[in-house]
Amino acid sequence: MCMDKRRAGIAGIGSSLPDLVLTNEYFEKIVDTNDEWIFSRTGIKERRKATEGEYASQFAIRAGQAAIESAGIDANEIELVICATVTGDMPLPATASIVQHALGATKAAAFDLAAGCSGFVYGLTTASSFIESGMYSKILVIGVDLLSTVTDYTDRATCVLFGDGAGAAVLVAVPDGEGILASVLGSDGSGAETLTVEGGGSKYPSTYKSIDDKRHFIRMEGREVFKFAVKVMGEAAIEALEKCGMTTADVDLLIPHQANIRIIDAAARRLELPPEKVFSNVEKYGNTSAASIPIAIDEAVKAGRIKKGDTVVLVGFGAGLTWAASVIKWGMDS
Ligand code: UT7
Repeated sequence: MCMDKRRAGIAGIGSSLPDLVLTNEYFEKIVDTNDEWIFSRTGIKERRKATEGEYASQFAIRAGQAAIESAGIDANEIELVICATVTGDMPLPATASIVQHALGATKAAAFDLAAGCSGFVYGLTTASSFIESGMYSKILVIGVDLLSTVTDYTDRATCVLFGDGAGAAVLVAVPDGEGILASVLGSDGSGAETLTVEGGGSKYPSTYKSIDDKRHFIRMEGREVFKFAVKVMGEAAIEALEKCGMTTADVDLLIPHQANIRIIDAAARRLELPPEKVFSNVEKYGNTSAASIPIAIDEAVKAGRIKKGDTVVLVGFGAGLTWAASVIKWGMDS
């Protein structure tokens, strides 16, 4: 049940994407694939890719700036910056600290959070707990990933799937009954090996050999992740709804992680939601990992798909394997 306390609500939202578009036709030229296979198996037509010299914090900063402007606050009011990412600028320091400085969020603490494609909803839930506890009142949560930097462009099974980008939300304290009403986070590390970038950590430090062995690229057992995703998306959304005494009938818009239209459709069927209550932009951006949900929220808001008072459900899954869902009573004016 929802307890009587202050909540965290989204007061501003923004996103930033690279300009370079890679179409399915581009991949036909570099690997043995075709538009028909990619579109029918994934729903993806094109995705964005950062070019040489572009890196994660640049997109995170632009998305963060847009979210701060949309919230109508000053950067120095932000008390915490959380960057959900698995492809930050560098292993050290946290990308969140680079973003915090660049934004002029001089009073903010900062840390990165790694939960794969579930990262943004993990970040939102973490931020929401800080706000509910009274520790902070204004938090910037960013989801940013440039998976192109860890993509093996000779592996047709993965290279067609991923895109780059960033999305951000400003969370502020709101009265009980508004904002993030309930969240569910989960992890099943027995599936850790189904989705990995092995190199560059303490197990396989960066060496010439780790590069030769292609340990710095994403490796994925697509079918296993697919089965997991289909199961967990519906379950997590329902569990989060139940936590605040709601059912799927209360949902105005589902914003799922944008990995594959077949996974999104399966989740929609499980939740018995008609297409107009499910947001998807996977066709344009592919799977942007931790950025996919905030980019989708930003587009949904701009497209007028979310109105004040709507019940919005976010649900993600990703490496770990992890999952995360949040139920939000939307408080921003459209
Ligand atoms: O954010 C979380 C990260 N990951 C995901 O969400 C991914 C979840 N998984 C998926 O979305 C799907 O499993 C994929 C899109 C990755 C693959 O779709 P699938 O229907 O599960 O295909 P599959 O892996 O079972 O492969 C079917 C066939 C294979 O050929 P054979 O063995 O049947 O001869 C693949 O080699 O399709 C082949 N294939 C391709 N063919 C043309 C794999 N990739 C391609 C490709 N073009 N790009």
